[in-house]
Amino acid sequence: MVKAMFSTFTKLVPLLLLSLGASPPTVAAQDLSATTCTGLCASLVTNSSTWEASQKVTTDYAFYDVPSNFSKSLKPGTLLKVEYVTNYTNYTVPSGLTMSRILYTTSDLNGTTLPTSAYILWPFAPFQSPQLKDGQFPFVAWAHGTSGFQKTCAPSSYKSLQYHFMVPYKLALEGMVVVAPDYLGLGVDKLPTGEHIGHPYLAGPSVAADIAYAVTAARAAFPVQLPKDGPFVGMGHSQGGGSIWAFTERLVDHPLPGYKGSVMLAPAVQYFALLAKQLAALPEILSTAALTLQPAFVAAVTTAFPAYNYSGFTALGYDRYKNVVEPLKVCLPTYTLATSTEDVIFNTTKPGWYQDPTVQRYAEFTEHGHRKLKGPILMLAGERDAAVHYPSLLEIVNGTCSLLTQEKWGESIDFVTYKDMDHFPMIQASSARWLSWIKDRLAGKPAPKPGCSSAVVKGFRSEFTEQSTAPNFFLDAIPPSAPYQAAF
Ligand SMILES: *[C@@H]1O[C@H](CO)[C@@H](O)[C@H](O)[C@H]1NC(C)=O
Ligand SMILES: *[C@@H]1O[C@H](CO)[C@@H](O)[C@H](O)[C@H]1NC(C)=O
Ligand SMILES: *[C@@H]1O[C@H](CO)[C@@H](O)[C@H](O)[C@H]1NC(C)=O
Ligand SMILES: *[C@@H]1O[C@H](CO)[C@@H](O)[C@H](O)[C@H]1NC(C)=O
Ligand SMILES: *[C@@H]1O[C@H](CO)[C@@H](O)[C@H](O)[C@H]1NC(C)=O
Ligand SMILES: *[C@@H]1O[C@H](CO)[C@@H](O)[C@H](O)[C@H]1NC(C)=O
Ligand SMILES: *[C@@H]1O[C@H](CO)[C@@H](O)[C@H](O)[C@H]1NC(C)=O
Ligand SMILES: *[C@@H]1O[C@H](CO)[C@@H](O)[C@H](O)[C@H]1NC(C)=O
Repeated sequence: MVKAMFSTFTKLVPLLLLSLGASPPTVAAQDLSATTCTGLCASLVTNSSTWEASQKVTTDYAFYDVPSNFSKSLKPGTLLKVEYVTNYTNYTVPSGLTMSRILYTTSDLNGTTLPTSAYILWPFAPFQSPQLKDGQFPFVAWAHGTSGFQKTCAPSSYKSLQYHFMVPYKLALEGMVVVAPDYLGLGVDKLPTGEHIGHPYLAGPSVAADIAYAVTAARAAFPVQLPKDGPFVGMGHSQGGGSIWAFTERLVDHPLPGYKGSVMLAPAVQYFALLAKQLAALPEILSTAALTLQPAFVAAVTTAFPAYNYSGFTALGYDRYKNVVEPLKVCLPTYTLATSTEDVIFNTTKPGWYQDPTVQRYAEFTEHGHRKLKGPILMLAGERDAAVHYPSLLEIVNGTCSLLTQEKWGESIDFVTYKDMDHFPMIQASSARWLSWIKDRLAGKPAPKPGCSSAVVKGFRSEFTEQSTAPNFFLDAIPPSAPYQAAF
């Protein structure tokens, strides 16, 4: 039984495949000898972390240093620093586009003002919108999927901004500015006083605030190009799809001028509930990601409630997270290899850890769905998504749609299923649809009629699509011996 489960598991998670074929470039061994990550673990982690470092623009994170005049009494949405033109020597940003970065203030789960960062990607010339004058740009507030859980995992410091041509480059090449928050704790991770800022992973209201205040701050940094009421659309994938869901709920009470609707790709919603469901269903696999993300959840709960102090970890989990992942400053690819290979995936957290009352309180923060939201919404899902369990998503969408109809919200949700598609392939499979939907909204076309609708796209030759939980859209070839490279 267990063996059968692992074979399914391995098939579904190429990231965890321990293939030992052709050699990647030689790397200096990291000193992991004082940790539990020795032997194969050390080799995988060393290779993967070296590769990760090669994908970052710099080892110098000076841009993310918070100016000494920061104070918690500032209003959220305040601009702290503007890099008008980012030197993109080390980025893969297509020529013709340009980039800026900003530091600004957001609001955490407690309502405390904290600093964070965002990048802004600029087209050469704007997509035409009748609501805009010459020199003004429409924009997309882009919420990224899971990159990792600490400073070095800010997409604005990734050579390819994490999603490259899958989303941000594509949008900017089509004339839309991309305003992309890194999220609290990624990029900026400490105050001038030295106080640490953690990443409250998957906590809806926190990322929703990061997105909303990025919009305000980007407009403050570039008032000519991004007028206060200029048209924009929200969009996100995975963690970011869930973040945009939370953002649309936030907009009900905190409206933003110019908002035209949101696109959610494979939104990660109610993930703690999914984890509980997944653990109860073992050895059946509903979502591999729910299992591999458990150590990240333990760390996230500790970020919001320090007294929890990683109590969900076993000694092994604590060691892998605190003595490997954190000191090596690594992100999702290496995190997965350090904490979730087949030999340790069920050994890093204590049985029933997620039933702890503090964890449950955190889980309440991560919930979206079954709540009023601001549309119109285009929601896109892959039927065979190994990270976001499709039947569970469908239940949440259905429940939300019932309320939408009964309570007459006057909003619309268009839910489109891409048959056979996995977590990243679904972005490409659906891109013609989301791109034209976004352009319609920004061009001021009438919004879809209130209510819920759904459609299924069967697709052409889906049997030949390379399906995986990780992207299959690369700027470079991935050696078969290094599947972790697919996780960026
Ligand atoms: C790590 O890289 C080294 C050097 O290229 C290689 O010999 C080794 O097989 C790699 N380790 C794993 C686990 O892939
Ligand atoms: C902080 O100082 C900089 C320059 O020293 C200034 O431009 C900025 O407006 C100040 N920010 C705040 C929030 O006071
Ligand atoms: C960008 O940085 C590189 C060094 O990495 C430097 O050679 C180049 O002059 C810089 N470009 C600009 C426009 O500052
Ligand atoms: C680009 O990368 C090189 C080598 O890693 C580094 O020396 C340089 O400072 C980087 N340039 C910029 C502008 O980040
Ligand atoms: C809010 O702040 C209190 C006091 O600093 C802290 O104990 C609590 O964990 C915080 N809660 C959240 C959700 O951040
Ligand atoms: C938190 O837990 C770790 C590991 O169990 C322990 O070493 C540390 O002393 C604890 N810290 C606090 C503040 O309780
Ligand atoms: C993980 O747990 C299993 C079963 O409880 C045990 O057989 C195995 O030795 C453990 N592995 C590690 C690395 O602790
Ligand atoms: C969702 O609702 C449709 C009809 O409204 C129903 O046919 C379907 O079974 C529901 N699916 C789930 C997972 O609840």
